Amino acid sequence: MTHSRSGFLWGAATAAFQVEGAAREDGRGPSIWDVFCHTPGKTSGDSGDVTCDHYHRWREDIDLMRALNLNAYRFSVSWPRVLPQGRGPLNAAGLDFYDRLVDALCAANIAPLVTCYHWDLPAALQMELGGWLHPDLPKIFADYAAVLFDRLADRVPLWLTVNEPWVIVDAGYVHGVHPPGVRDQALGYRAGHNLLRAHAYAVARYRAGRHNTGAISFALNSSYSFSATASPDDQAAAERAMQNFAGWFGDPCYFGDYPALLRERLGALLPEFTDADAALLTRSMDFLALNYYTSDVVRHAPGAGPMEVLPVPQPDVPRTEMDWPILPKGLELLALWLHDRYPGLPLYITENGAAMHDEPDSDGFVRDVSRIDYLGAHLDALDAAAARGVDVRGYFAWSLLDNLEWSAGFARRFGLVRCDHATQRRTIKASGHWYARRIASAASGVDGLATEGTFGAKEQSSHAT
Ligand code: FCB
Repeated sequence: MTHSRSGFLWGAATAAFQVEGAAREDGRGPSIWDVFCHTPGKTSGDSGDVTCDHYHRWREDIDLMRALNLNAYRFSVSWPRVLPQGRGPLNAAGLDFYDRLVDALCAANIAPLVTCYHWDLPAALQMELGGWLHPDLPKIFADYAAVLFDRLADRVPLWLTVNEPWVIVDAGYVHGVHPPGVRDQALGYRAGHNLLRAHAYAVARYRAGRHNTGAISFALNSSYSFSATASPDDQAAAERAMQNFAGWFGDPCYFGDYPALLRERLGALLPEFTDADAALLTRSMDFLALNYYTSDVVRHAPGAGPMEVLPVPQPDVPRTEMDWPILPKGLELLALWLHDRYPGLPLYITENGAAMHDEPDSDGFVRDVSRIDYLGAHLDALDAAAARGVDVRGYFAWSLLDNLEWSAGFARRFGLVRCDHATQRRTIKASGHWYARRIASAASGVDGLATEGTFGAKEQSSHAT
């Protein structure tokens, strides 16, 4: 698969638990998310039992990708579909599903980008070992990832080990709103540490594997922290916020250790890497994979937690239905921050999108102008980063379809395509048509998909109206 500039990837992303359904079919084991959704009071009450029924409708979904002009698709593999107990006996039917999916994507000229772990840990590993707190999980994960590399990497050019370790820790171990529902900061740092080790071990297996000519990384999520004022104190606080967010997981995968700032301020909360682990972590990202949704504004706040940073409320900034402030400029500045801190790595935006208040008409059509505005503004921000020297190679909208938004359930819609969860009817939204045109106009530019200094053509949201 090309990494050349003319091979710009225009994609959309999904995750197995959010779209597949078929939770008890063909030998799939339960994941911690199945257990969590079926525990009263933990989530909205919606589950992944059926969701978009993608497990049965994947051919139709590939047709939708074609209609959107996508040349790439990011999906994740359900670990308990492949290894129902997390380790031990392989479920051949589960692995075959992904094999067919990859074949069909390739036949449609859609490059697959595969995430090995998008949060659906096999429930057995949680019950038997305590999940990511167990020091053996990294090795067990790498064994699972190696099964995927062995079977799929001959056709998959881009891989992600773990999706958003920051969210796994923050939501799962600090705030307890995702499984395993723990509220303990010290345990959060331990889980995060093992997720980093898991990434490193899987990358090593990929590189030593028989199909290792593609590229591998993990999906980093971060906001950009704007400084509330131009004062040196606030600016230093904003930089601390950046290192604490993007640097927590970014630094180990580039330099082999956490930022010195975190070591100084967090002390014994941060576990140590062995020399062997540090060596495996160093340069374990072949590219930067960034999931970006929102940003914040921060100020120096002496005594406020170890980082001494506090957010400054932004009442006038528009927000999505997730209540996330819409700050596209943050994407440009974050891309530049990452480019400066981790030089030499190409950048893929592996998620970006918005939950908006979608009102379908009587035909199920959604005129989601606010989503088009959101996506367009973020593509423009990426264009600006590219013009300032960032090597941007791809963009994946979140999400292909309205799907199960984790604890928030079906009420939060991110899709370019509407999914009616009662009938499974799919209807391309105005944003999907807009995205298809944007891709087509970029593709008709100079040098394939890219034009001088920028990665895509400009288009106005008025095209959708
Ligand atoms: C990200 C997740 C993705 C989706 C979006 C809205 O944190 O990776 O699965 O839920 O948020």
